[in-house]
Amino acid sequence: MSDLVTVILAAGKGTRMKSKLPKVLHKVAGKPMVNHVLDAAKAAGAVRNIVVTGFGGEMVRQAIDAECVEQKEQLGTGHAVLQTKELLEGTDGVVMVLCGDTPLLTGELLTSLYEAHKRIGGVATVLTAIVPNPKGYGRVIRRPDETFLKIVEEKDATEEEQRVKEINSGIYCFNIKELFSALSEVKNDNAQGEYYLPDVLEILGAKGEKIAAYATKNYDLTLGINSRAQLAAAEKILRKRKNDELMADGVTLMDPDTTFIDADVKIGRDTVIYPFTWIEGNTVIGEDCELGPNIRLQNATLGNGVTGQFTYVHDAVIDDNVTLGQFVHIRPDSHLMSGVKIGNFVEVKNSNVGNNTKLPHLSYIGDSDIGDDVNMGCGTITVNYDGKKKFRTKVGDRAFVGCNSNLVAPVEVEDDAYIGAGSTITENVPKSSLALGRARQVNIHEWNDKRK
Ligand code: UD1
Ligand code: CA
Repeated sequence: MSDLVTVILAAGKGTRMKSKLPKVLHKVAGKPMVNHVLDAAKAAGAVRNIVVTGFGGEMVRQAIDAECVEQKEQLGTGHAVLQTKELLEGTDGVVMVLCGDTPLLTGELLTSLYEAHKRIGGVATVLTAIVPNPKGYGRVIRRPDETFLKIVEEKDATEEEQRVKEINSGIYCFNIKELFSALSEVKNDNAQGEYYLPDVLEILGAKGEKIAAYATKNYDLTLGINSRAQLAAAEKILRKRKNDELMADGVTLMDPDTTFIDADVKIGRDTVIYPFTWIEGNTVIGEDCELGPNIRLQNATLGNGVTGQFTYVHDAVIDDNVTLGQFVHIRPDSHLMSGVKIGNFVEVKNSNVGNNTKLPHLSYIGDSDIGDDVNMGCGTITVNYDGKKKFRTKVGDRAFVGCNSNLVAPVEVEDDAYIGAGSTITENVPKSSLALGRARQVNIHEWNDKRK
């Protein structure tokens, strides 16, 4: 097991986002940026992750599963890392410093930095890159023999230093002990009046410690998000990455450009996704499903062999071989069991629908428990709300509910019962009975002739 600990800097406001939300909580591929960073850290084998919060700290703490420490005033990246001193002092091993606004990071990139740090055997290794346009970044200054000397921020750099194309990615590995001993020596006598974390590198170098700059070619993975336009660009990249992973794992995406799948979604083999489909949140989908066109699934759990089109499902469970659509809305806390068929213009809310039951057309099923092999005729409505309270409807196995019936809850239709079309059912229907809850038809003979 590795000894890797990460510190993720996430105290900044992200002014250019122009948002009430802290920058690191803006979502990319359905997940807050900081959670993408945490996932990359975990994939690299980090055993402990500490997030430095500040602006909107309470919100950030709620959104993540990691230790947090507060930086009350944002006095610079060095000051931010210093806030973890109490938590880390006395710990041996390596800390990797990351930023919470870099959602494209991968476990592999972080692993390669960590391995480089171990291989080189210095006290600090900074991840750098050579870029065509270094504007805005700290520049890596090397000695004439190419060894690392220091990082200068653009605002403090001479003209000559500004011409350097090797930049600081803002990602580092430090040996914990040396990091904190040097951090206490960092000063804020610079253009921004901030305590700069990269100054630690120069301080340690001056003491004769070995400092390395590890240049990556995968620089695009370290890109930080500062604006909504960059957020949208990252969104495109992460969605493509997700789609490529799913296709590599045996999922067919008919048109990846119009298929939007969140980072944490899981999909089984030989499932086919048609265009204009959104699969979001913690949705899990089995094998051999055919989904879309135009389906939106949020936090849904689907078994195998489910087919659906023009459908919206959220926070619901759908078992094997269910058919959905078109124009179907499955609302939270619903469970559709195997072989259920839900047809045109049907809404289901907070209901259990038993195996092989059919809701083929134009129904509202709310707060209900429907048994197996039930046929709910076209236009069946559960009347679940009296204006004040909601009540449940229960329908037994093999019941047959005639078209255009109202089941006024609380009410129970027992097993094998029949309900005549057009009934308004206000009382329980016993097992195997036929219930008729409508006015009898009257025919007045020759009525129209007499009227003339
Ligand atoms: C930093 C580096 C720069 C590097 C660049 C890469 C410093 C001084 N400079 O510059 O060399 O090229 O990253 O992107 O470190 N933060 C806090 N508390 C603070 C200040 C910042 O938590 O007091 C967080 C921010 O929220 C952000 C990260 O640290 O996530 C980086 O801070 P930022 O101000 O964006 O640094 P840069 O100017 O980009
Ligand atoms: Ca930045």
